[in-house]
Amino acid sequence: MSSLVRRLTHALDPVLFARACGIDPDAMQQRLLSSTSRKVLLNCCRQWGKSTTAALLSLHEALHNAPATIILISPSQPQSTELFRKVHGFWQQLDGAPRAEQESLTRMSLDNGSRIISLPGSEKSARGYTAHLIVVDEAARVPDELMVAIRPTLATTGGRIIAMSTPKGRRGWFFENWNTGEDWERISVKAAECPRIAPEYLADELRDLGPLRFSEEFECQFIDSDTSAFMSSLIQQALTDEFEPFLHDRR
Ligand SMILES: Nc1ncnc2c1ncn2[C@@H]1O[C@H](COP(=O)(O)OP(=O)(O)O)[C@@H](O)[C@H]1O
Ligand SMILES: [Mg+2]
Repeated sequence: MSSLVRRLTHALDPVLFARACGIDPDAMQQRLLSSTSRKVLLNCCRQWGKSTTAALLSLHEALHNAPATIILISPSQPQSTELFRKVHGFWQQLDGAPRAEQESLTRMSLDNGSRIISLPGSEKSARGYTAHLIVVDEAARVPDELMVAIRPTLATTGGRIIAMSTPKGRRGWFFENWNTGEDWERISVKAAECPRIAPEYLADELRDLGPLRFSEEFECQFIDSDTSAFMSSLIQQALTDEFEPFLHDRR
């Protein structure tokens, strides 16, 4: 295949593009890669491939919608850097990718004019950019003020936002939008539906974590953190001998 035909094929089909980067996406990952929604929420279990798929989408945007600015954010710079490393790894793997003009551990500029920038989870650092794609990793743990600060960077570009997470409590930006936000495409994948997670592993985790924590980490459920703290304190009490036995009715 000539490089022009390959570029066109990849531009039109992000799934083929993902394969060229060394990942064969499963059915739900293909759905995300093929989505054209401007606002996407992913409520998926641990290890489904949220970061991997979003990294592929980020690189696709940088290569095929150039010049584009892609912002990667998360609760902390190390987590954003980790996501950037995935983008960088796919870029290295891809034949005929544009060359880097500047590269660091946290960002790169390509010779097609696109930039991929990973940022720490602070509201101040999010201001001052104009973006074409924002990827929010571990979104349920990102402070609400950061979401307020980052979204206007899309105001003039008609760009996209993809926010992905496992649930964390029944409050905050991710929870509210997952439940009642308007115009979001919502994609949810539980661990039992993920072809790369073994049922035996899940049975083991369920035993170790208990049903509440397990449902948060692996079944996409938003758990009331007060309830779960209460529940675990009850369980603790039940396991110790240090509390009063119930008194009998004295009548
Ligand atoms: N389609 C796939 N084929 C092979 N490996 C995959 C695929 N999707 C994800 N993975 C692997 O699964 C692991 C978890 O992926 P990651 O993106 O970190 O998950 P998440 O962000 O949802 O926790 C990584 O090792 C990643 O390379
Ligand atoms: Mg991840």
